[in-house]
Amino acid sequence: MNYQIEANKEEFVKLLRSTGREGVDDLIEYLDEGCNHFFTAPASVNHHLNSDGGLLEHSLNVCHVALRLRELVVEMRPELEPRLKRESVIIASLLHDICKADVYRPARRKRKDAKGLWVEVDTYDVDYSNFPMGHGEKSAVMALWAGLDITQEELLAIRWHMTAWDLPFQSTEAGKSLNAARDLHPLCSLIQLADGVAANLLEHGNEEE
Ligand SMILES: [Fe+2]
Ligand SMILES: [Fe+2]
Repeated sequence: MNYQIEANKEEFVKLLRSTGREGVDDLIEYLDEGCNHFFTAPASVNHHLNSDGGLLEHSLNVCHVALRLRELVVEMRPELEPRLKRESVIIASLLHDICKADVYRPARRKRKDAKGLWVEVDTYDVDYSNFPMGHGEKSAVMALWAGLDITQEELLAIRWHMTAWDLPFQSTEAGKSLNAARDLHPLCSLIQLADGVAANLLEHGNEEE
């Protein structure tokens, strides 16, 4: 593991432990060993942070943005503070995409270089066959499986972090559940916004060829 990934892992673990939540150490062990090496997985194959450790970096980016957004929102609407607990923001943001560690597999592929010659390059395959549960819902289930004591609002913020991008268009129930989750817990909107800011602004143009 390279130096940057080690430093990011240290920060990730420190942030999670700062929540004081039961099951954090079991969760860290699971992310390390039990789910295809979360700490070295990419955040995507062709888009943002598509390199080793990209998923870890993205998770930290979302957490940093979410904590700053929380400060701003609480300053402007102090009555929301009890519904936007710091520990919940950390847990939901750091864990929202852990499902990806189970999907991206290191691979080698032939590609033409700048001179038109075929070369073998490191890349990733996408394989949903291990546990085809979906996206946000899969991250939520994995956090529970790992033994983390996780609240309803954290589970819902993880489940719905993709907003309407993850809605089956035939399902009115899913759409209504998304809206109900947002109405119930401001944490859902905060994590959705932080994920968008991280992926579309902080990580914009951050892909390897
Ligand atoms: Fe996601
Ligand atoms: Fe994300």
